Amino acid sequence: MSLFLTTVIFFVYIQHYIHCKPYIDPQVDWTLEERIAGHGYPVQTYKIITEDGYVLSLYHISNDTTPNPEHYKGKSPVLLVHGMGGSPHNFVVLGARRALPYYFYDRGYDVWLFSARGSEGSFPERHVKYDWDQDKAYWKYSLHEIAIYDLPACIDFILIHTSREKVALIGHSAAGNEFFAMFSERPEYNAKVTVAVSWASAPILKRSDYPLALLFSTLVDVWKGLNNLLGLEEFVPITQTFKPVIRLACADSEFRKICILVTAVIGSHTSVIQHPEDIQVIASNLPRLSSRQIYHFMDNVNNGSFRKYDYGPKKNLKTYGQLYPPHYNIAAAKVPTAFFLGRRDSIIQLEDIYEAVTNIPNTVKIHVIPFEKFTHVDYIFGRNATEMVYEPTYQLVRDIDNGVVFLPIRPPFVHK
Ligand SMILES: *[C@@H]1O[C@H](CO)[C@@H](O)[C@H](O)[C@H]1NC(C)=O
Ligand SMILES: *[C@@H]1O[C@H](CO)[C@@H](O)[C@H](O)[C@H]1NC(C)=O
Ligand SMILES: *[C@@H]1O[C@H](CO)[C@@H](O)[C@H](O)[C@H]1NC(C)=O
Repeated sequence: MSLFLTTVIFFVYIQHYIHCKPYIDPQVDWTLEERIAGHGYPVQTYKIITEDGYVLSLYHISNDTTPNPEHYKGKSPVLLVHGMGGSPHNFVVLGARRALPYYFYDRGYDVWLFSARGSEGSFPERHVKYDWDQDKAYWKYSLHEIAIYDLPACIDFILIHTSREKVALIGHSAAGNEFFAMFSERPEYNAKVTVAVSWASAPILKRSDYPLALLFSTLVDVWKGLNNLLGLEEFVPITQTFKPVIRLACADSEFRKICILVTAVIGSHTSVIQHPEDIQVIASNLPRLSSRQIYHFMDNVNNGSFRKYDYGPKKNLKTYGQLYPPHYNIAAAKVPTAFFLGRRDSIIQLEDIYEAVTNIPNTVKIHVIPFEKFTHVDYIFGRNATEMVYEPTYQLVRDIDNGVVFLPIRPPFVHK
């Protein structure tokens, strides 16, 4: 269905394109380093190799190759983690002073940008053994591997590099689930984190009424069959199909409606605070996705639980010793945790957060964003996300660094 729509939109667009060549700002194709430098900030790129051989890029907003711990006294390094289908470009589109990394950097913080496996990154090799175009083995991962290999590798690198003990985590969408999967599977990381802030994320997605997810969930089995038939481990390269369409649509005034529509579908609603120029940048930097990432997410939505990857009964028995995948233990997250929620984000429901928080021992904040039209993607594109999200996030990270003790939030919850 979405592929069909994409194709139609694409052909309509090609027709149009022949007649008037839309203007695409060359800045859209900047690398992350070029973009950050263009905003007037320093950046260093590091190559991280995970335990299972994936080559990741880790970006540091800093011009110190050997950081001086004195300079950052009392301030934890901050690691910003993008969601599924996102990239570190997400965090910088709002530009100098207003984008999240700069907001923290300008206040004396040491900021790092995560880039999960499957992202373009800054290095030509993506794995010590596999080529992502040639080897299907590259694509055999879900959220689980990002959580247990990629995040820990980056956290460890930051702590060694900066000679500090703990890092603050801020994540958008699926990143929040990655945090909980990491604490569940590698609880020793509780000692390496000051606070885990999850935006637009809930470990349990029982009440989600995301139109795209509902469509996907009915199609997911068909999709699986098709992928198996074609022998694909990479998700039918949907992001690669969408990329040129969104890119072109967002560049041109007449076709801006398509651009707005596509982000409305992704973001679950139209937003009044997005600018197509920003969306174009994000579209040009969509990562590639593994099929398992999508299947894992859909299984969790369909089952209304947060559990490990479902390989099917036979392989589950071999891998987990049981027919069904075991649940992640969200209670293993002992660090202070916080949730941010937009009222127009139909993926994430407040009741789902409440249900999860009942089992999370140390939730210190559930922040409902005080603007009724805030959607799932406005954390990234929303032109005033700075005031509505980054500022309260910063205050929380700073307060925790300053030793402010927050009491865990327990039921009964007060409905807003
Ligand atoms: C590092 O960057 C800051 C701000 O961009 C600048 O003031 C400072 O001079 C730079 N230091 C070095 C060693 O380049
Ligand atoms: C979730 O999966 C379990 C098997 O692990 C099953 O018993 C249960 O009925 C499923 N729940 C839903 C809502 O599908
Ligand atoms: C954010 O932008 C919207 C739309 O322009 C506006 O109505 C709202 O008041 C703004 N909120 C803040 C906190 O700036």
